[in-house]
Amino acid sequence: MNIVETLRQEHRKLKEAAVAFSSALPSLSPAEAARRLGEIKAAVLAHVGREEGELLSLLEKVPDPQAQNLARMYRATMKPVTVQVQSFFSRYSSESSLQDRASFQRDWNNLVDVLGKRIQVEEGQFFSACERYLAKVGVR
Ligand SMILES: [Fe+2]
Repeated sequence: MNIVETLRQEHRKLKEAAVAFSSALPSLSPAEAARRLGEIKAAVLAHVGREEGELLSLLEKVPDPQAQNLARMYRATMKPVTVQVQSFFSRYSSESSLQDRASFQRDWNNLVDVLGKRIQVEEGQFFSACERYLAKVGVR
């Protein structure tokens, strides 16, 4: 599986995990919610790390100024989302941080929204452009 296919598959899994967590949330104890949130955090951060550390790094190695512009542009557009995601997970990193369920619910919904939009942008144009550039240099 190439890197772009791996990332697409991760998007599907992340969306499924988010939907499952959202619907289970009302019945989860703080301990269980924190445990499941920890799993989602690990998956999201690993994914974001792969996008920035692997995909963008590959794209930056394509000897074509357009590919490098694209990589620069996406690094710049992804960065604020990554910062937002990291700040969400550091705010809600303990059982006690989940006591105020209403605030958590609001921030969680916002995170799901932000991630959903990022996924849409990536799958809308960015990934297919990456595939074209990477195919040109024989990375599949
Ligand atoms: Fe992504």
